[in-house]
This record gives sequence, structure tokens and C-alpha cells, in this order.
Amino acid sequence: MNYFHYVDNKLWCENIPVAEVAKAVGTPFYLYSHRTLERHFKVFDSAFDDIPHIICFSAKANSNAAILKIFINEGSGMDIVSGGELYRVLKAGADSRKIVYSGVGKREEEIRYALESDILMFNVESSQELEVINACAGKMDRVARISLRVNPDVDPMTHPHISTGMKENKFGINIEKSLDEYRHARKLDHIEIIGVDCHIGSQITEISPFIDALDRLKELISSLRNEGISIKYLDLGGGLGITYDNETPPHPQDYAKAIMDRIRDIDCTFIFEPGRVIVGNAGILISEVLYTKTNADKRFVVVDAGMNDLARPSLYDSYHKIQPVELKERADILSDVVGPICESSDYIARGRVIPELERGELIAVMSAGAYGFSMSSNYNSRPRSPEVLVRGGEFYVIRSGENQADLTRGENIPDFLQ
Ligand code: LLP
Repeated sequence: MNYFHYVDNKLWCENIPVAEVAKAVGTPFYLYSHRTLERHFKVFDSAFDDIPHIICFSAKANSNAAILKIFINEGSGMDIVSGGELYRVLKAGADSRKIVYSGVGKREEEIRYALESDILMFNVESSQELEVINACAGKMDRVARISLRVNPDVDPMTHPHISTGMKENKFGINIEKSLDEYRHARKLDHIEIIGVDCHIGSQITEISPFIDALDRLKELISSLRNEGISIKYLDLGGGLGITYDNETPPHPQDYAKAIMDRIRDIDCTFIFEPGRVIVGNAGILISEVLYTKTNADKRFVVVDAGMNDLARPSLYDSYHKIQPVELKERADILSDVVGPICESSDYIARGRVIPELERGELIAVMSAGAYGFSMSSNYNSRPRSPEVLVRGGEFYVIRSGENQADLTRGENIPDFLQ
């Protein structure tokens, strides 16, 4: 449930007409509803009230400081994948003892930074990484708390680009090898094993892949415990899907119940790393129609948001609902909604039957709160758009739009070219 709705045919976010925000900040821009963000977090978190757990919001889904702070204020920890994300989440005020660090390519300086920051644990993705963490911790005279990210080899039945828990994916350590890897980790002086981790993919709309992964991890945990390796945390990653179009993902409560039904016998603190399910439907992208035209009988609606603002359609052919900010009596027409970028893959919607949009009007690209701004770029030298947070009847610019000077920041022309 979210707080974007029509009042007298005009799209509102909470208690503000979207067009009013557009007038103040210009298009394109990302618009988030505070009430929706808070609600989604609380619904997910409270679904696990019956078991000891930590929600570590997956910062990659949306890493704006204000948005991170909303979750931090609700007690959230953070799932990070880089030194940059660690910097961001700490700056936003995250509790370092609720930070988990995944990622197949952690650099030594990132590992040192995480050790200095005393994060809860590293989710280790390879034997070599384990050695490097042990060596770094040794040099710093510290002990690194770790879990192994186990690749349980289950098919999450999602887009191949966002599937991560099958044995041919680059992520984690094969479940068959993981017991041996744990045995080895136990011998390392600067490693403390505290958990087991997995993350099998994203935009998962069925419960069964999560359960399959959990069953495999449970077996592993009991083998580890039989060998006297103590496991305090079981991190089940993120991945729960949302409705973009007509998908019917499980409600967080059903997802939680299915998991809790199977874990009552495991004495652990459970970690979840949700991203999309919290922020996806709490944010939209507002754009203006620049032109309409017809090429070879095909209607194109050219808008001022491009693949640099929202990369998901061009990367994954993903669906985002397009809604006019003002509803009017008009015909529906088959259209391609495209951006200004010089690539044919620069589109927001393809072959979509939508109201006949006109030059100058505003559209809302729905469900853009996750992996929207966080994957945006400056391609075609387009400044990145502002982000705005609505709370009740007020709105706040939580990231200013970039200007032209931002585009060349850090560039230098060497003297020999002068
Ligand atoms: N934990 C780990 C280790 C992850 O790699 C991810 C996402 C998450 C948690 C959060 O997953 P979520 O709950 O959001 O599904 N850019 C793609 C999604 C990539 C997901 C990467 N990992 C998209 O726009 O669909």
C-alpha cells in the first residue's frame, strides 16, 4: 500500500499535488513518500516480531541519506557492498554493529575501513577473500567477525540478471564446499565465525525459492554445530519482489510466516536484507513530455527522463507503470515512451497502451523507488535529477539536482593540451 493517489483527477503524494512539487524543483525528479517508506519498513520489521532479528536495509536499492535515516530511526541496520556504501550509511548514523558487508570484490582498503568501523560481520564470498580478511585483521590486531555467503544453488525464478543463488552465478561459496571452508576458517587466528548467509536473487515473487534455500542452510548449520562451530546469526538476504504490473508476490507477513514456521528450532538471530520491497513502491519518477511524434506508424512520446535517470527498462526490460499526472477524458493509444538519450534502448515503456499524452504534460513513472536514482548516471552529460521527500503536506529536497559545473568536476586538461 502506498500514498500516491488521485484527488480530482490530479496525482497527489500524501497531501501535496505532484504538479506543485514539479513547479518548484523542475523535471525530471524522484519523489518519495515518507509515510509509505515508514509503513513499508514497519510492516516488514514487525512481521518478524516473534523471532530475534535485525533488518539490514539493502543500501544499494536507495542510498539517499534522508531515506537511510528514516530506516535507521526505526532501528534498521544496513546491508552494504562497498566502502562507499559504508561511508554513506555511517554518515547517515547507522549503528556499525548492525552492518553486514557482502560483495564478491571487497578491496583491502575497504576491508580495513570495515574493520576499523567495527561492523557486525563480513559476508565472505570466496576462499581468497577469507584469507585477505584474516591478513588485514591480523595487521590491525583485530578479529573479523564473518559468515560465509553460501550459494545454495536454488533457482529464484526471476530475471537472469538479478538471479544470484544458482551455482553458475559469481556469488557466494558453493554449498558443497562451504563446510570445508568453515573448517578452514575456524583455524584462522583473526577470524571469528558468527554466521551463515545467503542471498539468492531479487524481485522474487514466490515463497518456494526462499524456503528451498533456507532448508539447505539449516542442514549446513546443523553440520556446523555438530562440529562445535557456533552460529549466532543466520542472514537470509533480501529479494522479496513487489508489484510493478500484475505480479502477485507474497505479502511480507506471508513470507515471514513461511520462514518462521521453519526456523523455530534454530537458535539464532535472523538477519534480513530487504531493499526493493521497502522502497520500490514508495518512490516515483516525474517527467515532462517534451514532444510526441510518429515514425513508421509508431507513436513516440519523448520525455525528459532517460535511461541515465532510470536504467531498469533498458537493462532488464522491466515494467514501470506510466500514469499521467493529470487525468483527462482522452483515448488510449499504443505508444513508446522514450528518453532524450542517443540510444534506441533509451526507453521507459515500449508498445504500451496508455492515454494519448501531450507535449508539456507531466507523467509519473511508478514503482521507481528501488534501483532508480541509485543506478542513475551522467550519460550524455545529463545532470542527475533531484530527489524530493514528501511528508504530509510538506516536501523536502533531499538531494539537489546537479548543475553543469557538477558534470565536469574532477576533470583536468593537462598543460600540454593548453
Ligand atoms: N542483499 C544482497 C547481498 C544483494 O545483493 C541485494 C540486491 C539485496 C540484499 C537486496 O535485494 P532486494 O531485496 O532489493 O531484492 N538493479 C536490479 C536489482 C539488483 C539487486 C542486487 N542485489 C534491479 O533494478 O532490479
